Amino acid sequence: MKIRKAVFPVAGLGTRVLPATKAMPKEMLTIVDKPLIQYVVDEAREAGIEHFVFVTGRNKGVIEDHFDRMFELDTTLAARGKKAEQDILAANQPEAGAMSFTRQQAPLGLGHAVWCARDIVGDEPFAVVLPDELVLNTPGCLKQMIEAASKLDAKSNLLAVEAVPDELTHQYGICGVGKRNGRIFEVDGMVEKPPKGTAPSNLSITGRYILQPEIFKILETQERGAGGEIQLTDAMIRLAKTQKFYGVEFEGERHDCGSKQGFLRANIAFGLARPELRDGLRAEMKKYLEK
Ligand code: G1P
Repeated sequence: MKIRKAVFPVAGLGTRVLPATKAMPKEMLTIVDKPLIQYVVDEAREAGIEHFVFVTGRNKGVIEDHFDRMFELDTTLAARGKKAEQDILAANQPEAGAMSFTRQQAPLGLGHAVWCARDIVGDEPFAVVLPDELVLNTPGCLKQMIEAASKLDAKSNLLAVEAVPDELTHQYGICGVGKRNGRIFEVDGMVEKPPKGTAPSNLSITGRYILQPEIFKILETQERGAGGEIQLTDAMIRLAKTQKFYGVEFEGERHDCGSKQGFLRANIAFGLARPELRDGLRAEMKKYLEK
């Protein structure tokens, strides 16, 4: 199964981290020195994704600018001989024509956001990557999933999953576990944000999916579910009646950067993972912890 396109739903309002996100998209929040959206685009490129589809909304124009070439900046850096800085800009730049932007227009939920990408994705399997979840690992989470998909039937759907404490299952999509083969298992039922004490397992659906294009037809008629939103999980439950779903317990640490604590933790974890920052950051942290 070849996965060429990834959809990034980036229309969310980011209300959990106000006021940071009042005038700036939450996807532009910075972990160390890169915006969240850059991390997930890099993860997708590492996994072999060739086309990047952004489902945006009002006030998100800066995301499009971020992935554009900044002519004035390039020229100024070149004139000043700042080669290292030019290389940083060039390294993470998808090719011209490899990005598409479409708008969700109304905050109707993740399922609706994915449906908005239907014409750009067309009739092929595709990835969905939620930018507020970062996974710190090499290879990245999406690469691990695409490798898993290559060993499965071409009409399979895959979900990245991670165990969460039982008392947090009501915050996530949760899947039931069927036949298992190492880190990959057949999904036996899914439920979006189960009421406390009713979850079929503690395996939460994280922000990485590989889906078959038949999901779009289902999303077209998907009714509102948890939180009054059109839920991707509800559409996947319907698709699971005719196609296989697999859970992939990926290797790596997941960070929910859409919450304040997760965002701070991600900055520490990604900072400590950078050889040039590690020792200095450790020394600073030690000082604070001893206070
Ligand atoms: C969405 C999905 C949910 C998943 C979560 C992961 O929920 O609907 O199934 O577990 O992302 O972050 P949201 O966080 O948008 O409420």
